[in-house]
Amino acid sequence: MTDVSKITVLGAGNIGGSLAQRLAEAEVAREVALIDIIDGLPQGKALDIQESAPILGFSTRVSGTTDLSAIRGSDIVVETAGIARKPGMSRSDLLGVNAKIIRTHAEAVKAQAPNAIVLVVSNPVDVMTHYFREVSGQPAGRVFGESGTLDTARFRWFVAEALGVAPRDVTGFVLGTHGDTMVPILSLTSVSGVPLSRLLPADRVSAIVDRTKKGGAEIVNLLKSGSAYYAPSASQAELVTAVARNEHRLLPVTARLNGEFGEKDVTIGVPAILGRNGVERIVEIEVTPAERAAFADSVRAVRDDLRLLSSTP
Ligand code: LAC
Repeated sequence: MTDVSKITVLGAGNIGGSLAQRLAEAEVAREVALIDIIDGLPQGKALDIQESAPILGFSTRVSGTTDLSAIRGSDIVVETAGIARKPGMSRSDLLGVNAKIIRTHAEAVKAQAPNAIVLVVSNPVDVMTHYFREVSGQPAGRVFGESGTLDTARFRWFVAEALGVAPRDVTGFVLGTHGDTMVPILSLTSVSGVPLSRLLPADRVSAIVDRTKKGGAEIVNLLKSGSAYYAPSASQAELVTAVARNEHRLLPVTARLNGEFGEKDVTIGVPAILGRNGVERIVEIEVTPAERAAFADSVRAVRDDLRLLSSTP
């Protein structure tokens, strides 16, 4: 099934736990290790997932520990650790606290699993992905972040619901940052190849765009404590699987730009090909002038947060 022996998930919260479950059930690796600083949490969730194996029929070994050295030998590391938003908070409000955690983990990867491919999902994800790579010193393509596959899934669902069509038939790209300035690329949205503009009036499309931008906050406000994790972990499992199985998927991925889209030294959501070595190639697509301008706003928002991070003690 897989040539990947070990995936380590850092953080055993709602995201880490449900991601570990999805990866174990799909046998994406022979071993899934959960690590968290709260003693009992990673061990308890790992054992609980493991005990479902006889019923579900998977052979994945699932372990949990507080010991960061369990990172050793990982082919893929997923960084989910950090605090989540509370109602009224922006993802940028998490910057200072989560950066400290990211630093510790990036240093651990550098020391113990320097060849691992790293997927970062902690928020604000564009900045945290950038920062992880700065600290770990890995080649840019080997550290990438999740946001586009999640934002695109939300967008695709809202379109499917509005049209009464199968969700999987809706394709599209949400690019840019995982925040208010994300950029749904409407010119690339279709239902089995039929352009969205031929299926849905402009005012309904713009209501969907608006709801997509606030998709994470909608869940935070409903849950009141914690943020979304079912769709996020599904999206993360899709990305991890693309790497583990060397699928060469073309997906929206948070990647470090080196001249692509006219930008350098910034990490943001772009279309990319994902395989066993991480981001194999960033795909520069033609977008409309309005979409390009919106993408530039998005880049500015990430650069603002990067500046904020470098001035945080
Ligand atoms: C969301 C959080 C996880 O968008 O960023 O749900």
